[in-house]
Amino acid sequence: KIHPVILSGGSGTRLWPLSRAALPKQLLPLVSGLTMLQETVLRVAGRPGIASPLIVCGDDHRFLVAEQMRQIGVEPHAIMLEPQGRNTAPAIGVAAYHLRKDGDDDALMLVLPADHVIRDVEAFNEGIATAASVAQGSSKLATFGIVPSAPESGYGYIRRGAAVEGASGCYMVEQFVEKPDRETAQQFLDDGRYSWNSGMFLFRAGAYLDELERLQPQMAACCREAVQEAYSDLSFCRLGKEAYAKCPSESIDFAVMEHTQQAVVIPADIGWSDVGSWSALADVQEHDDLDRNVLQGDVYTDGVRDSFIRAENRFVAVLGLDNVIVVETKDAVLIANKDDVQRVKQVVDYLKQEK
Ligand code: GDD
Ligand code: MG
Repeated sequence: KIHPVILSGGSGTRLWPLSRAALPKQLLPLVSGLTMLQETVLRVAGRPGIASPLIVCGDDHRFLVAEQMRQIGVEPHAIMLEPQGRNTAPAIGVAAYHLRKDGDDDALMLVLPADHVIRDVEAFNEGIATAASVAQGSSKLATFGIVPSAPESGYGYIRRGAAVEGASGCYMVEQFVEKPDRETAQQFLDDGRYSWNSGMFLFRAGAYLDELERLQPQMAACCREAVQEAYSDLSFCRLGKEAYAKCPSESIDFAVMEHTQQAVVIPADIGWSDVGSWSALADVQEHDDLDRNVLQGDVYTDGVRDSFIRAENRFVAVLGLDNVIVVETKDAVLIANKDDVQRVKQVVDYLKQEK
């Protein structure tokens, strides 16, 4: 069986002021009536060959996550709690050691960020089947590649090489570059051989751990210890505090994918978006036909085009503006040009300093 491992520990700062440390984007109903975590779990839950999900999240969010799973009637295999975030390489590491502890080194892990939109679930499932056939009993680490549409510097870039024998639609990874600068991203885009890394992975628990132990021995040791010292509390699995605290913090992309020779890529045309910014969120929503606006809540507009306006608590009126984001919440309001949405992160940094 394939074990979905759901990464739900991010803070989603670029969707401030809606997404907050206490309630990050994956725990919010942003695109539908369900939260992004619920959507992620339901996309794979109950499918043949798919085990119940293993969720890795921050200790602070444990009751929210448990409640959201209860709401959709899903009983997780485990909810693993990180005393503090150590980024994705350790989060995936502890999930892998946990599966190994259950005696299943050959367990396939499907690593899924909790905050993606996937429109074509059928194509997604085909990609999973291809990845599983390659990863089964092998040391390959499968990634899902997305056709890039812009020189985005916030993504990983994958250059595909030769086709993998016996697995149609799967290629060796020749180069993996995490978050290149814009100029390099433009070169990759022009080159034509590159995909974006979707941030989803499929591999055998043992295959990931072999690479983690080889490439990041200190991180691997901390993860192993944190799982050894873990204890169950209600339905939660609490990782060893001290071991996890001394674990280096790094993403799987920098820690493993940029260095491993075992990576393969499955190009996947699945209608993917990572909803990484307000403009990305606006892009995946229904627009009104005339002015291409997305309006949510109690909103009045006149002469407004290509804009995203969301009112949570109060009535919001916008007049004569193009290409803007307006997000009203109880205690903060964001007004931004759509082209500047990546800088929302700076507001969060500023607020942290102030406090
Ligand atoms: N449990 C846990 N703990 N989850 C985490 C942690 C952590 O410390 N840090 C991040 N996550 C979760 C986030 O909630 C998200 O679901 C996922 O892991 C990816 O983390 P991001 O912080 O969103 O990564 P990114 O967007 O900068 O980059 C990754 O995703 C891109 C595609 O969206 C990389 O994999 C890129 O290569 C990729 O292109
Ligand atoms: Mg992301």
